[in-house]
Amino acid sequence: MRRIYLDYNASTPIDPSVAAAMTPFLANHYGNPSSGHWAATNARAAIEAARGQVAALLGCHHGEIIFMSGGSEANNLALKGVFFGQRDSRDDHIITTRIEHPAILAPCRFLERLGARVTYLPVDRSGRVDPDDVRRAITPSTLLVSIMHANNEVGTIQPIEDCARIAREHGALFHTDAAQSVGKISTDVNKLGVDLLSIAGHKVYAPKGVGALFVRRAVRIEPLIHGAGHESGRRAGTESALLAVALGKACELARDLEPMERIRMLRDHFWRALQERFGDRVVLNGHPAFRLPNTLNVSFVGLIGSEILARLDGIAATTGSACHSDRIELSPVLSAMGIAPEVGMGAIRFSLGRGTTRDEIDLVVEQLAQTLAPVE
Ligand SMILES: Cc1ncc(COP(=O)(O)O)c(C=O)c1O
Repeated sequence: MRRIYLDYNASTPIDPSVAAAMTPFLANHYGNPSSGHWAATNARAAIEAARGQVAALLGCHHGEIIFMSGGSEANNLALKGVFFGQRDSRDDHIITTRIEHPAILAPCRFLERLGARVTYLPVDRSGRVDPDDVRRAITPSTLLVSIMHANNEVGTIQPIEDCARIAREHGALFHTDAAQSVGKISTDVNKLGVDLLSIAGHKVYAPKGVGALFVRRAVRIEPLIHGAGHESGRRAGTESALLAVALGKACELARDLEPMERIRMLRDHFWRALQERFGDRVVLNGHPAFRLPNTLNVSFVGLIGSEILARLDGIAATTGSACHSDRIELSPVLSAMGIAPEVGMGAIRFSLGRGTTRDEIDLVVEQLAQTLAPVE
């Protein structure tokens, strides 16, 4: 069986040069970065160099980067850190969207239990938020607007610049979850106009267990983890030079967006081939243009995505529907987009990456054609 990995939005392999950068920190540089002696020097210097690499990718100052355990922690710190950090103000309103990752939606629900008021904005059929909806929802007590940069399931890219401008005009902070967009499209915090931005290492060819949160200098946040003064008092716990170095190297590689053009062409070739084989029995989910270059979420109309995947051999991809107690449920993202159940149930997300080849795409199309023929 040939194995084909088309689930890069779920996680990426570790890039060989990231692994190479980590090796000295597995073998030698064991000192505590906070110590005052020779054993700490390499680790401390490496962490600060890595912070600079992450900052260079995001176009910010290195002091504005806090190392995290991943995208979930970064999102939690953004939401809870801002809410607790500004408690003395009367602002208790948060605006987000219905298609955020659970790492945004669950903290929002938690904050609602503590008295926050949260507005969940709708999206259109392509998964896009209307900036006018942000304008209509925002009030003088809006503390924070949090809108994901690109959606993990369908890849739709949000009009972050416009939404962030509206937040700023109304004195609210703006956070974006860039876990999926980093390394795929530009994530320059000043071009986007955001105050906080989350990234996850394992979506950008670094290992799992590391991520970062950009927090603009003037923004006050309360840490989630209290302890000693690590990460300038914003996240306690002895820093991992091993993981910081990995994220730093991955971010250095991610600055070059050129390889994404090859991936975009492969993704478009994939879509054309599916259309040729299946005609109007296959439907694209997500925005046709404002979409991550590696993401192809398609529905096989009238079929069940998980059943199609189960019949394919060795192909790693993700379905947009989940089976809960014998019922098949549409993903909350596809439901929020207003996709009809008979279309949404047949959704499969293929996400391509640096290792994907044309040969692999052609094999997947062939397998799909063979697998689906009997059901026609
Ligand atoms: C958009 C988005 N945000 C946040 C996360 C969570 O990141 P992590 O798995 O690093 O906690 C993910 C991961 O799937 C994601 O796709």
